[in-house]
Amino acid sequence: MGERADSAERTTVVAIDGPAASGKSTVSREVARALGWVYVDSGALYRGITWKALRAGVDVRDAGAVQKLLDRARWAFPVRDRTVVFTVDGEEPGDAIRGPAVRESVSDIAALPCVRAFVSARLREMRRYGPLVMEGRDIGTVVFPDADFKFYLDADPVERARRRARDLAAMEGAADLAQVRASLARRDTKDSTRRDAPLRVAADARIIDSTALTVDEVTARIVAAVRAGKGTA
Ligand code: DC
Repeated sequence: MGERADSAERTTVVAIDGPAASGKSTVSREVARALGWVYVDSGALYRGITWKALRAGVDVRDAGAVQKLLDRARWAFPVRDRTVVFTVDGEEPGDAIRGPAVRESVSDIAALPCVRAFVSARLREMRRYGPLVMEGRDIGTVVFPDADFKFYLDADPVERARRRARDLAAMEGAADLAQVRASLARRDTKDSTRRDAPLRVAADARIIDSTALTVDEVTARIVAAVRAGKGTA
C-alpha cells in the first residue's frame, strides 16, 4: 500500500493551462494519445458540477447549497479509452456540459473555494491512473505545482473567438462571432480575477502562443519537449 502511494506520488504529470478556447482540449487529447498517457479535462469537472447544480435547482453562487450537493451526490471518475470520464449519481452528463446554461454559470461555480477544494482533491487522486496529461486553468500553479511538465497555451482573443465560434456552429448550428467574443471575455475576466486559484501563468511554465500554429504543430512541440525531458521553463 505504502509503495503504491509512493509511486502514485511520483506519477508524471503534463499540466496544460490557458484561457478558454486557446486550443487546450484538442492539443491535450492529442498529446495524451501520442504519449499513451491518461487524459484529464479538469474543466469538465467544473462543468459537470454546474450541470448537476442547475438540474437540482441549486443556486450556483450559494456556497452552502453547493457544498451540500457535493457532499450528497455520488461522484465517480472512471477511465475509459485512456480518458477520465465523469459520472454523478450514476449518470454521465455528456454533451450537456457544453451547452449554453452550463457555459454561462460555470465560472461562478469555479469561483467557489469549496468547489475548487473538491475538484483539486479529485484531480490529485487521479495520479493513481498513472502518467497524466491534464488541462485546466490552475493545474501547474495549484493542483500540481510540482508537475514535471508545465505548458501555458495562449492565443489572440480574436482567433480564440473564431475557433470557439467554429466549434459552437458545429454543435449548435450557428454562432455569432461578436457574442462568442463577449462571452469568452466575460469568462476570461471571471477566471483570472477570482480570489481562489485565478488563471495565471506558472512561473516555470513554457508559454506557447498558438495563434498562428496548427493543432499538430502545438502537439508536436509539447510531445518533443516532454520526450526531451524539458517541460518547464
Ligand atoms: O476549460 P473549460 O472551458 O471547459 O473550463 C470551464 C470552466 O471551468 C472555466 O470557466 C474555468 C473553470 N476551470 C477552472 O477554474 N479551473 C480548471 N482547472 C479548469 C476549468
